[in-house]
Amino acid sequence: HPSASEKAGKMVIGHRGASSIAPENTLAAFQLAEYHNVPWIEADADMLGDGTVVICHDATLERCSDHSGLLRDKIVTDLDHIDAGAWFAQDFVGERIPTLVELILFTNETGMNLNLEIKSGNDKAVTDRLIDGIIRDINHHWQGGQQLLISSRNHLLLAEVKRRAPEISLGCLFKSPLPNDWLTSMQYVGADFIHPHDKGLTEQQVKAMTDAGYSVNVWTVNSLARANQLYNWGVTGIFSDISQQFQPCYRN
Ligand code: G3P
Ligand code: MG
Repeated sequence: HPSASEKAGKMVIGHRGASSIAPENTLAAFQLAEYHNVPWIEADADMLGDGTVVICHDATLERCSDHSGLLRDKIVTDLDHIDAGAWFAQDFVGERIPTLVELILFTNETGMNLNLEIKSGNDKAVTDRLIDGIIRDINHHWQGGQQLLISSRNHLLLAEVKRRAPEISLGCLFKSPLPNDWLTSMQYVGADFIHPHDKGLTEQQVKAMTDAGYSVNVWTVNSLARANQLYNWGVTGIFSDISQQFQPCYRN
């Protein structure tokens, strides 16, 4: 079975880490992606009430921890008491919700390339604070040659990131169905990457994106056959929960 990533230079992105074999968005999930030579990880960024940027998909704790309630009602010392692994399997008891700083240190040590997806609501004061925290953590801790790509569904937020940190590569996320005015959003943000949802995505749409000069990363693809089809259409990368099955992978 020819694997999708045998095409050198293609991006395979472990969606929330190696999230089919470890609890999503934990260091265990990122370490397992590294163990399986997955070249990129995707991680979701949000903020605690004290301004600490953490890696967590949901605004609430129920689904991926042994606690409940809102992330924004917690502070950094609460992370010591929240188990983010037991819900997945007993082997992962003791996993924590990582801070962004902890994740950056992991990428510094391993050379893992990072796509940080910024989660956000519509409150601009909140999103401005989140952007401040992310840029602060990156400026203080990012070292080495690993690549950083920041993405979000909130394109207004991305435009603000561009204004404050123009050197960072950006990707506009789009839900399915892809809106007809995707190009306007891309130009408004000044993004280099477009991240469309896989559902309903056509070869013609991918061609329009690559013809416009954009790199295309598709989420979330858990079929090797579909991944191969997308690579053949010219996409740069795919997000997958089974990134560990895309062998061999290449650091790029
Ligand atoms: O960044 C791609 C993908 O992660 C976006 O959707 O809900 O899995 O964060 P979600
Ligand atoms: Mg995500």
